[in-house]
Amino acid sequence: MYKRHRKLRNNSMIRNLVKDVYLEKNDLIYPVFIEEGENIKNEIKSMPGIFRYSLDKIDEELEELVKLGINSILLFGIPEHKDEYATESYSKEGIIQRAIRYIKSKYPNFLIIGDVCCCEYTSHGHCGILDEHGYVKNDETLEILAKIALSYAKAGVDIIAPSDMMDGRVEKISKILAKNNFANIPVMSYSVKYSSSFYGPFRDAADSAPKFGDRKSYQMDFRYAGDALSEVKADLKQGADIVIVKPALAYLDILTKVKETFGVPVVAYNVSGEYSMVKAAAINGWINEKNIVMEQMYAFKRAGANAIITYFAKDVAHYLNEES
Ligand code: PBG
Repeated sequence: MYKRHRKLRNNSMIRNLVKDVYLEKNDLIYPVFIEEGENIKNEIKSMPGIFRYSLDKIDEELEELVKLGINSILLFGIPEHKDEYATESYSKEGIIQRAIRYIKSKYPNFLIIGDVCCCEYTSHGHCGILDEHGYVKNDETLEILAKIALSYAKAGVDIIAPSDMMDGRVEKISKILAKNNFANIPVMSYSVKYSSSFYGPFRDAADSAPKFGDRKSYQMDFRYAGDALSEVKADLKQGADIVIVKPALAYLDILTKVKETFGVPVVAYNVSGEYSMVKAAAINGWINEKNIVMEQMYAFKRAGANAIITYFAKDVAHYLNEES
């Protein structure tokens, strides 16, 4: 006799009973863009519904998150001044350092994750320091990344998330944190980060597009799968506590492998291009936005993600609230 799979799909009660993938608000991490200046609330053109805020207007965003029950935020900064060496990125009075102090003092219940990278702070838009040929210098860049991480830690950040893709950054950051009595701050490393066109809208959002060339000499090549586990292994050895796989949708095979191989907490980064594509189709009435978004969120969880960084976090929280 053949198996009647449909028995367990008969009605919503039995479907709810046998389901084995769960999604909750605690899984969500919302990216927040904070721009230096005053009285700024600008919608990002390629990301409808996502805004850049100046610090004096950020309460509006944070209060909405509190109301919705979203506890984790990932901060990106847009400084007024950029230079070749990303000096604003580790300044005590930098936009993110000030934002961390402000948010910590006013909203102590947020888990604040600080993205550590140079690209928003360099005049050339690359994720590190350049040599005379425009090549990003690895070890010199590590010095800057360590300074950024330490400055975030001093400001009170909860988690450090390096996204630059230099080799050895996790070790460098872990060491400087430990040396300065911040050994308890977890490192959430963008261990698997592909050189991807899915980041296009983010670069509008963060003003971080490279002025020349691309990021292929430091971000990963999506045609070479063998690199992924090796990157994660190296980061874990260097002290990473949580690893990110990015982008998410086109890389769920990698995410599953990472989860099954290492068993550590894994975060899916549902990136800007993935957001914009869904939004564009939804605005045109071509798809059911809610259903598509939720199907994707469950896909990340089913693939093995513990948490999801997503620009849809507020929408997802609304949908989950409607259900409960
Ligand atoms: C910074 C950084 C990027 C993203 C997160 N951190 C951009 C990049 O690497 O070019 C992309 C996020 C997104 O597309 O949503 N290095």
